[in-house]
Amino acid sequence: MFEILISDPLGQEGLDLLAAAPDVHFAMRPGLDRPALLEAVAGVDALIVRSATRADADVIAAARRLKVIGRAGIGVDNIDRVAADARGIVVVNAPSANATATAEHTLAMMLAACRQIPAAHASVAAGEWRRADFVGVELANKTLGVIGFGRIGRMVAERARAFGMRIVAFDPYVSAEAGAAVGATMMDLAGLLAAADVVTLHTIASPETHHLIDDAAIAGMKHGAILVNCARGTLVDADALSRGIASGALRAAGVDVYEVEPPVGNPLVGLPGVVHVPHLGASTSEAQENVALQ
Ligand code: MLT
Repeated sequence: MFEILISDPLGQEGLDLLAAAPDVHFAMRPGLDRPALLEAVAGVDALIVRSATRADADVIAAARRLKVIGRAGIGVDNIDRVAADARGIVVVNAPSANATATAEHTLAMMLAACRQIPAAHASVAAGEWRRADFVGVELANKTLGVIGFGRIGRMVAERARAFGMRIVAFDPYVSAEAGAAVGATMMDLAGLLAAADVVTLHTIASPETHHLIDDAAIAGMKHGAILVNCARGTLVDADALSRGIASGALRAAGVDVYEVEPPVGNPLVGLPGVVHVPHLGASTSEAQENVALQ
């Protein structure tokens, strides 16, 4: 029997596939505390996680039979890949399953930030009628700066073009020709920050991208620009961004992800001008089904 532990919730469609497979036994046990997780992984051949389980070196060391870790989602930053590699454990993800959901969510956050939809909604809910306080900005004829021009970045760019935006992108792995082929002008990071009215992040969390958006990056952005982060919280120095918003250097921000989730004590939470939601990029029925199947 091939034993699988699923330590975060997984859609029924994926569970049905596993149930139909011969020689496979699985247990879905989301929300295990640390000692219970270390005990539960001890005898399994495979571990399936989403973002809540941290498959760190201790978990990998405790999983003596482990052969494969499946990440039901895109980012594998919650898995210690060095520890996994050292043991010959394969780490696989579901790279395309929730790309559409994240791209659409990014557009939603962009528009919500441009028009301050959550604040306007809350104001009407409170019985107010303050139309003059919620004058927004348009996307049309503005420049979108996409940092990280992979699958999701390109999907965001394609959708933003439908709003009449010009696209500039920064990605050290994408050539000028490849960018031009999908309608984007490739730039270096400083050039993009200086050119973009809206900056959106679609790169991975790594030591190189930690606090990519800090005080210096914000100082290099256009006055009144908007920042959207639906990728990973570590890409942005939340203190720097809150200073940028509070000073008026930036007009608004759309924040889906946080360095620590839930974002306890994060200065962006509740700050006027910041639209924040609880890491919802992949949270559509369609994406959850795709992720579970993939
Ligand atoms: C992902 O990496 O797939 C998304 O951030 C969604 C998630 O973490 O669940």
